[in-house]
Amino acid sequence: MSDLIDIMHKRHTVRSYADRPVEPEKLSAVLEAGRWAPTAVNAQPQRIVVLDTPENLAKVREFCTFGWKKHYVDLAEQCDTPDHEHIVLYYGAPLVLVVCYDRDACWTHPESGASSGATDATIVAIHMMLEAASLGVGSAWISYFDHEKARELLGIPEDWGLVCLLYLGYPAKNEQPAHISGTRKPLAETCFFNGLPPAGSHSQKVTQEGDSQ
Ligand SMILES: Cc1cc2nc3c(=O)[nH]c(=O)nc-3n(C[C@H](O)[C@H](O)[C@H](O)COP(=O)(O)O)c2cc1C
Repeated sequence: MSDLIDIMHKRHTVRSYADRPVEPEKLSAVLEAGRWAPTAVNAQPQRIVVLDTPENLAKVREFCTFGWKKHYVDLAEQCDTPDHEHIVLYYGAPLVLVVCYDRDACWTHPESGASSGATDATIVAIHMMLEAASLGVGSAWISYFDHEKARELLGIPEDWGLVCLLYLGYPAKNEQPAHISGTRKPLAETCFFNGLPPAGSHSQKVTQEGDSQ
């Protein structure tokens, strides 16, 4: 197995998938990596819905279809229909994990009342994403989808929080990382040793379109 940092460097968000299934043993390994994620008080509130049938993938396509938005049109150069009326952020993934958590099964901070569920499920998703990358399987974390429609079409109960979709599959032949991929801010902009810089000097706003200002 490669070093973890190599896997992190090589992974990128795949937005165009080959018509090739993910082998069951690789799916099992990905789910197993999620199983071993740390969660608050080891409560393991994550609930992962695995979708790989044509009927269920058609539902994903339906709740990942939107009206035109510049940022997503730019991102979706390789997506199904990047026209100026509808944009489909399904990208042809053959396998979709719907990452949820059971609100009744999470740890709750005793003073603030904040639930750990979304954090727990996020860590689970990252474990799965990195394991997929280590196995040569591409992935995409998807937050931008119609959550209500997803609940309705998939029958996800109200007492489950819905965190993200994790697309999995092999990259299509000419798949390329998007232009916003592959760079990261220098540590000096995001890490502060033993104190913060003067107020205001470290904040950067991100617009709805995702461009930093
Ligand atoms: C919380 C979160 C939400 C995201 N939502 C979407 C999304 O809805 N659609 C999409 O195409 N990519 C989405 N992404 C992928 C990011 O755009 C991507 O990770 C980022 O641009 C860095 O590129 P890289 O993953 O190729 O390194 C999301 C990533 C994260 C972590």
